[in-house]
Amino acid sequence: MNEKAFPAFESFITDLRTLWDEGQSEAPDHWEKVRSRLGDLIKDETLQQASINWPGKRGEELILYHDPDHGFFVGGLVRPREHQARAHDHAHTWTAYGVLYGREKTTLYKRTDDGSVTGKATLELLAEYEAPQGHVDLVPPWQIHAESNFGDRSVAITVRTEKPGGYAQNMFFPELGTTDMSHKGLKLIPFPLAA
Ligand SMILES: [Fe+2]
Repeated sequence: MNEKAFPAFESFITDLRTLWDEGQSEAPDHWEKVRSRLGDLIKDETLQQASINWPGKRGEELILYHDPDHGFFVGGLVRPREHQARAHDHAHTWTAYGVLYGREKTTLYKRTDDGSVTGKATLELLAEYEAPQGHVDLVPPWQIHAESNFGDRSVAITVRTEKPGGYAQNMFFPELGTTDMSHKGLKLIPFPLAA
């Protein structure tokens, strides 16, 4: 992939690096700025059109960029038609999640047990709303949620505190009242859009 084909992505990474240079990457304000900047990126029609041909499928995340200095990660998630995701969290990390192509829905949950019994968890539905092309969600640490495709193929861009896979996340099975606390995220596929 020739990174020069995506000047919007290059300048996005430059702006994120400047933001991370401020040293506030755990602050909600920092992530509001990431949300805003990601919202601009996903308006880029060249990137939208290119994503039609991105590889990737259920259970995979494209590595679009991983910052060598600050550790933040930019991923691509391609969801097939009618892909219903399972409730999960992103552990201690923050995520900004922007819908680049297609349309999705976001579901938010609240945990109703006290977490005192290992492997047990009960959830309550908090909210469910449409996430069309251009929508950006912020996922704070431990927020239980699911992003699902409810139409044709969709593509989302994630900005994460760190590369997934190096920490355990919760994957919830509300129909069983259980949680798998050892989930390591999706299979990562290198697909760099910027050096
Ligand atoms: Fe998620």
